[in-house]
Formats: sequence, structure tokens, C-alpha cells
Amino acid sequence: MNAMMQFSDTDKYARVIKLSKAVHWEIEADVIKGRGFDLSKKYLPDGLSLVSEMTMLSDDEKRLVSQIQGRTYANVFGLVERFITAKLLEVGHEHSLGDQNALEALVRFSDEEIKHQTLFRRINEMMSAAMPGGYRFDIDPDMVARAVLSRSTWGVLMLTLHIELFVQNHYRQTIEPDENLSELFKDVFLFHWKDESQHVVLDELELKRHDASLTPEGRDRGVDDFIALFAAVDGILQMQAKSDVAYFVATCGRTVPSEEARPLTAQFLKAYRWQYIFSGATHPRFQAVLKRMITEPQAERIAAALATLH
Ligand SMILES: [Fe+2]
Ligand SMILES: [Fe+2]
Repeated sequence: MNAMMQFSDTDKYARVIKLSKAVHWEIEADVIKGRGFDLSKKYLPDGLSLVSEMTMLSDDEKRLVSQIQGRTYANVFGLVERFITAKLLEVGHEHSLGDQNALEALVRFSDEEIKHQTLFRRINEMMSAAMPGGYRFDIDPDMVARAVLSRSTWGVLMLTLHIELFVQNHYRQTIEPDENLSELFKDVFLFHWKDESQHVVLDELELKRHDASLTPEGRDRGVDDFIALFAAVDGILQMQAKSDVAYFVATCGRTVPSEEARPLTAQFLKAYRWQYIFSGATHPRFQAVLKRMITEPQAERIAAALATLH
């Protein structure tokens, strides 16, 4: 049985390698192609920015919101991919004298995530050239990665699976079908999605392998860490929602009274929580993987922690 499972896993790793080679792309030649960002187009789709709920804003202001949130979207991926790469390199090392398909798949994974971080830095610079000055994203990826990686591997791998699964839904359900978005923005997340489709397979394989090595107490600590990581993500989202609304107020071209700015900050936070927490936490695949690994009381602990974020 173990031999069969091993064969089946190594086969999955081999398939990931094949797909990863088939979709390989380069930042300038395949994604950017000499283009720049156009301020006449939306960046982040309405299904993610939740801009249709911001009824006090004009259409031009809603477009600005989608551009600000689109820039933050690229920066958040640049941020989380720092700790994702570090963790997957760490667990990949466990395969170095074992399954060479697993090792190769995880080396490719890390190479792709480093390329994604370079792409997102490039995108931020290009948006900076197109958009008015004053936008801020002051969160240091290394500092966040150090805090995340101080938590247990189970919690970090579960958070990683959650992130890479919501990437799938965001692209297929909201970015790809929206014809009003910047073509360059769409392409950035098309090429990103192509790699992430393989990454979710690896996240799940590594998580299952690690989960099988844990005692019930170890897994219980993992659940606590997973909850703590969500709280940390939420802290970042609260800071960035305030910062992004301040930038909107400074650049939208009219005086925004504080009684309008306050609810707008709450709407930005709601959108960010949807993008980075709830769209992943409610993903059917994520729920299925999580439920198989945890007890009913642990599931209730996670649900109770998430409920405090509404
Ligand atoms: Fe990525
Ligand atoms: Fe990834």
C-alpha cells in the first residue's frame, strides 16, 4: 500500500514537472511585451474590489479604486511569496536524497515563485510610473516571512495552500472573464495562474506528507498557528486598507469628508478580507483538505476565529 502511494505521489510530482516546463514563460518577452499601464482601464475586477458596494463614488473614482487595489494585489503576492518560497525550499530539502521527481518539482516551484516576486516588483514600478505619487506599501517581505516562518510548518503549509487555491478562483472567476480590465494586468495574472495551477498540487502533497508525520498534539499546535497566521494577515490588511484609502483621498481630485472616508476604509477592508481570507477559506478544495486533517473541535476553533473578522 505504501509503495503504491509512493508511486502515485511520485507520478504526481512528475506530471507537475511536465506541466511546469510546458507553461514556462519570461517576464519581458511573454508578459510585459513592451506595454505599460493605462489609467483609462480598471486593474482589479469588481468581483474582487467589491467596488459596486461603494455607491458614493463616481465611475472615475471606482476605476481609481480598482487601480489602487490592483497595485496592492500585486504587492501582496510579492509579499506572501517570500515566505512561501522559503517554506517550500525547506520542505523540498527533505526530498534531496529521496524522490528526485519531488525535488525537481519543488526546485521548479521555488524558481517560479522567485520569478513571480520579480514580476510583481516590476509591476509595482510600472504602476508607480503611471499613477499619481504617494502610494505606499511599507510592509517588509523579509520581516513578515521571519514572523510567519517562526510558526509550525503545518500552519504555514495550510496558509500557503489557502493562498494558492484562491489564486485559481480569482483568475478563473473574476479576472479572466472581465473584458473591461487592463490587458497587461490580465496577462500578469494569466501567466501567474499558469504556474500556480501546478503549485496547488505540490502544496497539497507536501501538506499531506507533513501532516502524516505529526502527533495529534503537534497538529493541534498547527491549528493554533494557522489561526494566528490569519490574524497576522488581517493586521496587514487593516494597515493597507487605511493606507490605500488615504492615497485615494489624496489623489481622487475632490475633498472627501471624513464621514465618507471612514466607511470607505471599512469597504476596502471588507474587499481585502474577501480577497485574501474568505475567498480562500470558503474554497471547496481547501475545505475538503482541511476537514480531512482536523477534528470537529479544531474546525470549530478555526470557524470561530474567522467569524471575528466579519
Ligand atoms: Fe506565485
Ligand atoms: Fe505559487
